[in-house]
Amino acid sequence: MSVIKVAILGFGTVGEGVYRTIQSHAEEFTAVLGKKVEVAAILIKNKQKKREVREDVLLTSDFEEILELPQLDVVIEAIVDKEPTFTYLKKAIGRGCHIITANKEMFAHYGKELLELAKVNNVSVGYEATVAGGIPVIQTLRQLLKINRVSLIQGILNGTSNFILTEMREKKQSFAESLQQAQENGYAEADPTNDIEGFDAFYKAMILSRIAFGEEPDWQDVERQGITSITSELITAAEKLELRFKHVASISREGGRVVAAVKPVLVGNENPFYHVEGVENAVNVHSDIVGRITLQGPGAGMFPTASAMIEDLVYVCQSRSGERNIVKNTVEISETSKGEQKEYWLVQGLSNNSGVTCIDEVSTGINLIESSKKDLDLLAGQHPGICYFSILGEVDLAILNKEAATVI
Ligand SMILES: NC(=O)c1ccc[n+]([C@@H]2O[C@H](COP(=O)([O-])OP(=O)(O)OC[C@H]3O[C@@H](n4cnc5c(N)ncnc54)[C@H](OP(=O)(O)O)[C@@H]3O)[C@@H](O)[C@H]2O)c1
Repeated sequence: MSVIKVAILGFGTVGEGVYRTIQSHAEEFTAVLGKKVEVAAILIKNKQKKREVREDVLLTSDFEEILELPQLDVVIEAIVDKEPTFTYLKKAIGRGCHIITANKEMFAHYGKELLELAKVNNVSVGYEATVAGGIPVIQTLRQLLKINRVSLIQGILNGTSNFILTEMREKKQSFAESLQQAQENGYAEADPTNDIEGFDAFYKAMILSRIAFGEEPDWQDVERQGITSITSELITAAEKLELRFKHVASISREGGRVVAAVKPVLVGNENPFYHVEGVENAVNVHSDIVGRITLQGPGAGMFPTASAMIEDLVYVCQSRSGERNIVKNTVEISETSKGEQKEYWLVQGLSNNSGVTCIDEVSTGINLIESSKKDLDLLAGQHPGICYFSILGEVDLAILNKEAATVI
């Protein structure tokens, strides 16, 4: 029986998970591919560290040694940083290998080049693990929604932020206490900036945009806001309205261009994101034939991420040519209606004489208001202390027991 030879770059949480899964699921690979899958080499940084791998696996810190192997079919990348990763993957494609990556920062920056290079070299690229860990969202968009026209994608794409928001609400903790808890549990790095300031979710949103809409928005135009402005007072005020804060990335096509935002929003009980708690991720895909699909599951971790990568291994081995069909038909969301239509917002820091319609002062200094986004953006431009959060879906005004709105 012929063999597919694989190299794994990195033997940390993800790389080791991939290695162990290839060993434990050998039978399934053979049944699906009709070939054995063998790990020929593993790239690591520190050669002194003890690793539990078979003796016939080349364990090296020199990528050139891997490229020189007599047979190499797939390179699975699970290291960190944009470089030397991008260089390694370009060389792997040049050598005629399919590549699979989990590295979202690198892929958000260089995915386009890698996909183009792969096409020229007639190999495939798997990048399921770059977005939402174990949830098969890329393959769903790429393989299972080929005819549907996507209008909107929304996602809770960063487990650390979702964990912090959940802890703050459930345990009535401050942001700082919940962040510390996330670090103690190993969910947040010592420097959590990428997670809590929304960069990680931003990179994932850009990757999703490319697969769903065939292009990305101009990165400078994307509203990116992390969760550091969310206070215990805001969480309590939201709870009074039976709403929960979620950090959501959204991507759509409006007025002929792709528009994206990554920011905290409020969701009610009827929204599937309301029940997505802790480190879980979820993605809503809105499309014209099927309507809304919600995919939910583990956004990180050894085996969920390995699951995404080994399913990609099957995908790249079965692809007959390079990357295909990534430009999809999409549906426009009307630009004029968005931004100008009145919506409900939870707002902190409004002063008197703001001229906005206040439905209720939910807590001291925190109001539920009705306004268009355009007017609120204008007001916030004049009063920089204001923070405001949109509400996805309906607000049940009955729970407020208010008879009339007032202008403040
Ligand atoms: N952890 C998750 O749940 C998760 C989920 C989705 C995506 N990802 C992405 O997957 C990638 C790997 O994450 P991880 O959590 O597995 O990281 P990790 O545990 O820190 O492991 C990184 C591995 O890469 C090796 N490495 C790092 N730089 C290298 C270099 N320049 N040359 C050779 N080897 C190098 C390290 O070698 P040594 O062992 O010798 O130090 C280590 O084995 C990252 O891009 C991450 O964003 C992770």
